Amino acid sequence: MSISKKTVRDISMTGKKIIMRVDFNVPMKDGVVQDDTRIKAALPTIKYILDQNVTGLILMSHLGDPKKDGQKARDKAAAEGKTFDEAAYMAGKHKLAPVSDYFSRLLGKPVQFASDCLGEEAKAKADALKNGEVLMLENTRFHKEETSKDASDREKMAKELASYADIYVNDAFGTAHRAHASTETISQYLPAVAGFLMEKELVYLQEKVVNNAAKPFVAIIGGAKVSSKLAVLESLLNKADALIIGGSMAYTFLKAKGISTGASLVEDDMLDTARAIIAKAASKGAGIYLPVDHVVAKEMSPAAVAEITSDDNISGDWKGFDIGPRSIELFNKVLSTARTVFWNGPVGVFEMPNFAKGTFALAQTIAGLKDACTVIGGGDSVSAVNKAGLADKMSHISTGGGASLELVEGKTLPGVAALQDK
Ligand code: 3PG
Repeated sequence: MSISKKTVRDISMTGKKIIMRVDFNVPMKDGVVQDDTRIKAALPTIKYILDQNVTGLILMSHLGDPKKDGQKARDKAAAEGKTFDEAAYMAGKHKLAPVSDYFSRLLGKPVQFASDCLGEEAKAKADALKNGEVLMLENTRFHKEETSKDASDREKMAKELASYADIYVNDAFGTAHRAHASTETISQYLPAVAGFLMEKELVYLQEKVVNNAAKPFVAIIGGAKVSSKLAVLESLLNKADALIIGGSMAYTFLKAKGISTGASLVEDDMLDTARAIIAKAASKGAGIYLPVDHVVAKEMSPAAVAEITSDDNISGDWKGFDIGPRSIELFNKVLSTARTVFWNGPVGVFEMPNFAKGTFALAQTIAGLKDACTVIGGGDSVSAVNKAGLADKMSHISTGGGASLELVEGKTLPGVAALQDK
């Protein structure tokens, strides 16, 4: 299967300078990379480009949101009466230099760095690049034009970035749902093609899940809130043969059906919506599967004493934090014949050992499916699969949280739409 957009294979790069958007928005703690999945995922495209005798490769990325997150951190420090060390905060959380060093070690060659993605230093370093040299630019979101709602702001920034190179490559699938200067607008000024990661994400999510899912297609949607998964649920009702619902959002569906949910987290304002989804599923012949038992406790804590309910009801001040053994059995049965599985959102609080069994059991089942295309989309379910050590047993693990959800919701991703058609 292929995608309708041009990729790095469809353009001659020899003797050209390439500017590439990557999503190196990786979790950081005190300036140390905590998870390098996204950096490793961009390496095949980077290595391919460097093998094409290009005059240089310039990489750009965002890292968090320095303005929004910075303001929150400043407010928190003020509320706690602490002094806020701006430089240390930015260096630890939003400056890309440590990510660039980490990437350089993975790539096995030196990577130059420009301390601002715009301005004289970046331009001079980009111009001076010679064969096979790599330059990483500082966080694009240090400039408000990157995310500005005003197209002329984004155009100004995108033009300057485009002036560094001859070809634009977008491999930042995780940020493809953002219409930003470095992800979308820049495509107006340079021949714009997809990298291999972008291509792989689109092949799996767009082609093998959204457009041509082999049947039976089973989707598992978990997580805390129905409200944040509403669009994806609506979309999957039209595509999936079975929809397994887990996580806290299952309690909203159970309450909507008149089942007692004890003190579990329920979105009362979503009860009608949940009823409408159940009715729509029935009319479309898609099965909705909810937990038939639960792991409950009085509080969400790794030390909490957990019990298993005898049926789908939760009583008194008990709260549900995971699916129970009979639910695991039921969901395993539904999954056993699946030829396509899309999973977004854990079915329990898998970060705590007392509430992790359901999520890990489903991960194990999905990993063991023969002849099925298994796609994991979204941050938390990806962490669960990684934690279970089953990542290499899945057909595809998406590097995009919001981007993969929006794609499955049926939305067009601006960063993809802007690329050249084949
Ligand atoms: C992500 O982590 O989902 C992407 O890097 C996009 O980040 P954003 O939500 O800050 O735009």
